[in-house]
Amino acid sequence: MNKTLSVSAIYNGTVIDHINSGQAIKIIYLLGLLDKKYKVTIGLNLPSKRMNLKDIIKIENHSLKNEEANEITVFAPEATINIIKDFEVVKKITTTLPPNISGIFSCPNPICITHSETIETFFDITTHGKQVNLVCKYCEKIFDRNQVNVNI
Ligand code: CTP
Ligand code: ZN
Repeated sequence: MNKTLSVSAIYNGTVIDHINSGQAIKIIYLLGLLDKKYKVTIGLNLPSKRMNLKDIIKIENHSLKNEEANEITVFAPEATINIIKDFEVVKKITTTLPPNISGIFSCPNPICITHSETIETFFDITTHGKQVNLVCKYCEKIFDRNQVNVNI
C-alpha cells in the first residue's frame, strides 16, 4: 500500500479536505484564490475512505476566516477545514451553513434580471434534511447546490 500523500503536506496554512469531487473549482472562485497570490495546491478526484472520490485544496501561509469556511459548506457539506501551524493540525474549524451567499455565483434561471442588469447575485440558503437549496432573491427560483455555478 502506497502511503504517500497525493498532495504534499504543508508547514503552515489551511487544508480543505473532503470536498465532494467536482466542487473544488467553485471553492477556488468562492475564496478568490485565482486573484490572490497564495501558494495553492489542488487535488481532484482523489480516493477517500469516507467518500467515493474527493477534492482537496491546500493554501499555504494563510488561515481561512470562519465566514469563508461556512460558505464552503454550501457546496461541500462534508468538507473538513484544518489550520496547520509548524506542520501540525492546530485547529479544525467547525462550520455552520451561512444564511445567504452573494456575488460570484450566477443565477441558473436564464431570464433572471441578474443577467440583464449589473446587480450582484444573492441567494438565501435553505435546508430540507440533507438537501441544501439556494433561493435567488431576484427571481425567487429555488436551485440545488449542484445547479449553481460561477460565471467564468
Ligand atoms: N495535512 C497537511 N499538512 C500537514 C498536516 C495535515 O496537508 N502538515 C492534511 C492531511 O493530509 C489531511 C488534513 O490536513 O488531509 C487533516 O489532517 P489530519 O487531521 O491529520 O487528518 P485526518 O486524521 O484524516 O483527519 P480528518 O479525518 O478529520 O480529516
Ligand atoms: Zn435569479
